[in-house]
Amino acid sequence: MNIIAIIEKKAKNKALSRKEIEYFITNYVNGNIADYQASSLLMAIKLNGMNKRETVDLTRAMLYSGDVNDLSCIKGHIVDKHSTGGVGDKTTLVLAPLVAACGLKIAKMSGRGLGHTGGTIDKLESIPNFKTSLSHEDFISQVQKIGISVIGQTAELVPADKKLYALRDVTGTVDSMPLICSSIVSKKIASGAKIIELDVKYGDGAFMKSKKAAKELADLMIYVGHKLNRTIKVVISNMNEPLGNNIGNSLEVIESIETLKGNGPKDLTELCLHICAEFLHESKMYDSYQKAYEYAKEVLYSKKALEKFKEFVSCQGGNANVVDDYSLFKQAKYSFDIISTKDGIIKKVKALSIGQASMLLGGGRQTKDDVIDMSAGIVLKKKAHDKIHVGDVLATCYTDKKDILEAKKLIESAYVIAQNG
Ligand code: URA
Repeated sequence: MNIIAIIEKKAKNKALSRKEIEYFITNYVNGNIADYQASSLLMAIKLNGMNKRETVDLTRAMLYSGDVNDLSCIKGHIVDKHSTGGVGDKTTLVLAPLVAACGLKIAKMSGRGLGHTGGTIDKLESIPNFKTSLSHEDFISQVQKIGISVIGQTAELVPADKKLYALRDVTGTVDSMPLICSSIVSKKIASGAKIIELDVKYGDGAFMKSKKAAKELADLMIYVGHKLNRTIKVVISNMNEPLGNNIGNSLEVIESIETLKGNGPKDLTELCLHICAEFLHESKMYDSYQKAYEYAKEVLYSKKALEKFKEFVSCQGGNANVVDDYSLFKQAKYSFDIISTKDGIIKKVKALSIGQASMLLGGGRQTKDDVIDMSAGIVLKKKAHDKIHVGDVLATCYTDKKDILEAKKLIESAYVIAQNG
C-alpha cells in the first residue's frame, strides 16, 4: 500500500477501503506521510466526498489513533457538547458552568479556532493565567470535585485529529462533511462522556451553509455514533448572524460572563438553556424537557452558574476577578466605530464577513503558527431587525493593528440594510 495510490484513487472518486483509510491515518500520525501528501488527500476527499462506510472507517481510525478516556471513576452523569463551529459561538463558556451548577458533570476537551470560527481554548486563554492543559489526574479530580473542567485536546487523545485539524485550517479543507463528522465524533467518543450533544450550525458563518446540509451532517454524525456504539443528540442552530454581539476571544468571555449574570443576548441564553435542558432530561434528572428547562433557567438567574464559573476559573489557575473587573483582560491599543451611512432596517449581519474581519483584526489565525491577539475583535451594536439612522454606530472594533481598512470594508459589507421608503 502507498499514499500516492490512495490519493490517486480518491482523486478518481473511488471509495477507499477500511485498510487504506487506516494506513493513511496510522502513517500520517507516525510522520511517514508528509503534510503535503495529507493535504492532497484531504482536498480529494473534500472535492469527491466519502460514503457512509468510509466515514465510519475514518472516524474509527481517528478514534483509535490515540488514547480513549475512561471516565468511569467519575460518579454522576457525564455530559459533553461540541459545536461544528460558528462566529461568536461562546456556548461552552456559559453552558459548561450552567450544567455543572445543575448537578451534572462536564469533562470537556475543546479545540482552538479554525478558519473564521473561534475556539473555546483560545477564548479561555484570554483569562489571565488560565491553564488549558492539565494532567489526566488533575482533570479527573477537578471534575469529581467541582463538576467541571475544560482543557485543550491532549496530544494523546485523537492525535490524528490534532494534526489534521491544523492542516485543514490552512489548506482550505475544513468544510467537508466526512472530515467534519470524523473530526468531531472521534474526539467526542474518545473524550469518554456518555451523553453527547452536537450543535450543528448552518448559515453564512457556518461550515454548513444550508439547514438541509446541517441536517445531513447531523444525520451522518448520529449514524456514525450509532455504528461506534454511542448515542448522539443533535441541535441544529442558525449561524446566519453571529451568536450574541461579541466576536473575538476576551470579548466573548466578557459576553459569557454577562450571560451568566443574567444579562446575556437572547439567542445565546436560549441555546444554552435548551442544551442544558436536553442534558438534564437525557440523564433522567428530570422526566420532562419543560421541567428541565425551568430548572436550568432558575439556576442561571440565581447566579449559581456564575459562581460555578468563578470556581472553575480559579481551579484552573485563572484570575476569577475578571468576572467583576473586565479591565483585567488585555486591552486593545485601538478601537474604532463602524458608522451607518444609511437610514433603514437591518436585514442581516453576515456572520462569515464578521468572522473574517475579526481574524484580520488579530482575533484568529491565518497560518498554523500565528499568535492570536486576545483583545482583538468586534462588538456588534446593531443586528437584524434593528432600525438605524445615518450616523448610528453599527459596530465597534478592537485591535492592536493600525491598518484596518480591509476589516472595515468587510464589516461594512456584512450589514445588509433595507432602506426606508
Ligand atoms: N469542529 C471540529 O472539531 N472539527 C471540524 O472539523 C469542524 C469543527
